[in-house]
Amino acid sequence: MTTHPQVLAGTPAIGTARSRVEGRDKVSGKARFAGDLPVERLAHGAVVTATIARGRVTGIDTSSALASPGVIGVVDHRNAPRLVPGVGSPFFGPDGQLQLLQDDRVAHGGWPVALVVAETPEQARAGAERLRLTFVEQPHDTAFAADHPAARPALPAFGPDADKGDLDAELAASAVVVDERYTTPAQHACAMEPHVATAWLEGAVLRAIDSNQAPYGIAAQLATLFGRPLSEVRVQVEQVGGGFGSKTGLGPQLILATMATLLFHRPVRVTLTREQVFLATSARPRTDQRVRLGADRDGRLRAIGHEAAFEISGESEFIENCVEIAKTLYAADAIRTRLTAVPLDILPVASVRAPGTAPGSFALESAVDELAERLGVDPLELRRRNEPEVGPVSGLPFTSRNFQRCLSEGARRFGWAGRDHRPRRRREGHLLIGTGMAGTSFLTTAFPSSATITAERDGTFTVAIAAIDIGTGARTALRAIAADALGVGWDAIRLEIGDSAIGPAWQAGGSLGTTSWGWAIVAAARDLLKQLEPGPALPVSVTSDTTEEIMSRPHRERHSYSAVFAEVAVDPATGEVRVRRLVGRFAVGRVVNPLMVRSQLTGGMVMGLSIALQEEGVRDGVSGRQVNADFAGYHFAANADVPFIDADFVDDHEPDDPLGLKGPGEIGAVAVAAAIANAVWHATGRRHRDLPIRLDRVVEG
Ligand code: MOS
Repeated sequence: MTTHPQVLAGTPAIGTARSRVEGRDKVSGKARFAGDLPVERLAHGAVVTATIARGRVTGIDTSSALASPGVIGVVDHRNAPRLVPGVGSPFFGPDGQLQLLQDDRVAHGGWPVALVVAETPEQARAGAERLRLTFVEQPHDTAFAADHPAARPALPAFGPDADKGDLDAELAASAVVVDERYTTPAQHACAMEPHVATAWLEGAVLRAIDSNQAPYGIAAQLATLFGRPLSEVRVQVEQVGGGFGSKTGLGPQLILATMATLLFHRPVRVTLTREQVFLATSARPRTDQRVRLGADRDGRLRAIGHEAAFEISGESEFIENCVEIAKTLYAADAIRTRLTAVPLDILPVASVRAPGTAPGSFALESAVDELAERLGVDPLELRRRNEPEVGPVSGLPFTSRNFQRCLSEGARRFGWAGRDHRPRRRREGHLLIGTGMAGTSFLTTAFPSSATITAERDGTFTVAIAAIDIGTGARTALRAIAADALGVGWDAIRLEIGDSAIGPAWQAGGSLGTTSWGWAIVAAARDLLKQLEPGPALPVSVTSDTTEEIMSRPHRERHSYSAVFAEVAVDPATGEVRVRRLVGRFAVGRVVNPLMVRSQLTGGMVMGLSIALQEEGVRDGVSGRQVNADFAGYHFAANADVPFIDADFVDDHEPDDPLGLKGPGEIGAVAVAAAIANAVWHATGRRHRDLPIRLDRVVEG
């Protein structure tokens, strides 16, 4: 196939279960995260945040802080470098969130107002505590309501609202109608590793090591914000201890570290505290969703209406796209979706673990269960009867749609057959036992990226791409993809990632890191193998750009699918809900590494369990501040909460992707909350339309 000297006919690496390449380093403590890297002459910045929910900084007395041991200086709005205004976030609108320390205003509780820089982190923290700040408070509005006077249509970034058929007429003609409201609370990404950045100047080049999901995109944004050419900004990302959406954008840690290094001419590291990660980065918005379903007596859907309102910060645009699956999952004569944004004086909202789809599927898939109840049919059977032939709204063909297989294989594994569909029928002592199920689709695609592959003199290949490994195993997956694409053994691949200087590449986000990066590697390998045929002098390098290939694909419906089954035991006296079993079946395209993908899906299902039962960012209306900004108050599933989980794949292949990939990143976290809520209804006879399903809500029922 090629004359390259040491090309080995290796067994295909894709599809092989392998441990992650950096696993040993991680468990032995050798792996370095952004806050671990030694940097000479390093200074440390401690962030100071506003204690009011809205208003102005009226005074900053730095004298005591500056006299504090080790303190080098203070950055605040009076001396901070000027930023270029109107720099949008990469995917959404104007981003006032980025305009830190530009004036005296406080946009929300937790807004950064100063950075104290010192020789050590402890000295910086001590200095920060001695900063004397005064504020004038202005009235704030942090109370979310779908009918808030400021409510307005969300940006149409994910396509227009669906308006197929006549929803009202179809509802009126339906034998059975469900019309219910569902709410979900604010949720936080909760990455283990807090946001941390180190910035320094190397000649004219602004360099940074940051914990983020998108080195190239964030370097580009940083360059624009500070008015520098991109060629003079370089952002590197080492090991990342999770992001879950909260590190897709340029974070306050990197903006403030950059300001400090420009002012004090020292490398500066800024590490947010856990509380600051909660208060000053981003969160998933609260949602309030109305779902209307209408069906014939035999269960055929005539109408799907899904209207979702979500809160946003007045500082930055975002779209919590709750209505995606209403356009995809089921056939219906009329489908209407609406997305409404409610601007408030709150922390910017942004992507968190399956943005939009996770809260949206809770509402829609709970409503479908309610419809099954009112029809007196098996909720699994109801989903079988409404399988669409083509995109229900778009009319476009599906590339590969294996939703029904997820349903049937999941049902078989779970033991769904023979379920008594009436609620409150099973007891074990004082416990009420129930089962429930839900499904979802999840948008998949690939985004333009570039990769450079070099055939080295020693027969190895260096594969460089500005990807990052957020902890999911991207290094391991990309190495397998490169080995197969080049037709060589695993050991012949040297992978370089995590550096904006490599070139444009998509982020570790939208479940589309591996699809986007894998495509770029395949394209570069294809060109390189051609160039190697005449047997040129080595090394030879080739750089790919997948923009044209990706953009010229036909318009089709591309989605992953899942079905999730849950069994719960509810203690009616204490309100405690224990999930006993979770079974998930996933159609996520070809699986690059079954070991890691199963682990990722299992992790996603744990997040779904957390969303169902535990997670809730609580805001105090009087102070406007979040009151549970830590892991003591913000509950998240821990080992003892996690039951038997069986996550597995059904055969699936994406025909419009060169590797057949779809992207298993986030879908594990979807559909679980509805499956659990439906199981709690089956156990108790009571619907829970507000998440999380807390003890007090269960007991009140
Ligand atoms: Mo993700 S929540 O697309 O980083």
